[in-house]
Amino acid sequence: MKIKHIPVLKVEVIDYLNLDNGKIIVDGTLGLGGHSEAILKKIGRGGKLIGLDKDIDNLESAKLRLGEGRKNVYLFNKGFEDLIEVLSNLKIKKADGVLLDLGLSSVHVDSSEKGFSFRAEGPLDMRFNRSDIESMTAADLLNSYSEKELMRVLKYYAEEKKFVQISRKIVEIRKIKLFRSTKDLKDIIEIFYPQQRNNHHHLARIFQSIRIEVNNELEVLKKGLDQAFQALRKGGRMVVISYHSLEDRIVKNYFREKFRACICPSQKIICDCGKKRELKILTKKPVIPNNEEIFQNPRSRSAKLRAIEKI
Ligand SMILES: C[S@@+](CC[C@H](N)C(=O)[O-])C[C@H]1O[C@@H](n2cnc3c(N)ncnc32)[C@H](O)[C@@H]1O
Repeated sequence: MKIKHIPVLKVEVIDYLNLDNGKIIVDGTLGLGGHSEAILKKIGRGGKLIGLDKDIDNLESAKLRLGEGRKNVYLFNKGFEDLIEVLSNLKIKKADGVLLDLGLSSVHVDSSEKGFSFRAEGPLDMRFNRSDIESMTAADLLNSYSEKELMRVLKYYAEEKKFVQISRKIVEIRKIKLFRSTKDLKDIIEIFYPQQRNNHHHLARIFQSIRIEVNNELEVLKKGLDQAFQALRKGGRMVVISYHSLEDRIVKNYFREKFRACICPSQKIICDCGKKRELKILTKKPVIPNNEEIFQNPRSRSAKLRAIEKI
């Protein structure tokens, strides 16, 4: 099946993964399978692709795109934070490469029924994995979080200047009417950032902050990085694309920590900490899309790619 969808920084991802015939590669965030399609072409029939996505609908789309039933393709409705378990069930000891392309896929943004987008009215859900019916939706969050908790989400994840006023308003409004749809949230934001003053930037950031909290994305990322690093063989590569400054900071700090060869206090003359450098940083600065890519795919504009090689 042909899907018209351009994966972000595709050439750079393929390049940094250092792909060859026969390699074992994990795509921890399959999405619509765009990167995986390109990976498969490079690793050939002798290679193995393990693909994960928490969103069952995206997983199904990726299956169609990649050709379900191919002997060397293993696709699961799992989170990348459970990668070690997935590999051990497949009896795969180590991978040659892991890709994490974080956040939302374009279908999430375009479809109304998952509640990720302020552009379309739909239920305030925002969960990647909706099969766990007990898990918290965006509506649950807005209807139950204390004012203080709401302030934390808006201040840190959205870097929202009016976090106090907006949180207060949410608590005030829900006493009259509970939050149910994306429009309910949009209406509150528009009290502070009216529509006529191009408010998309504010809407996008606040919606994104709620999504990050609903899916516990920053904690999941920390666990996922660790699992991905453990899964790599020596000489294996990891490529991570993030779209939010806090995510990028977590990735950068994780790589830096593993890069450090010594953690002795600075006054120590002879190192005795036993720490070893565990990786080589391949991207001194994050790689970002060029103007042409941003023009063709405006959603790529906040992407930052970092890559390492395990040593
Ligand atoms: C930016 S998209 C990936 C796009 C993909 N690289 C492509 O070429 O189509 C991110 C995907 O990761 C999924 N996702 C988010 N968090 C996840 C997690 N913890 N584990 C697995 N998948 C996750 C989302 O459902 C979404 O489909």
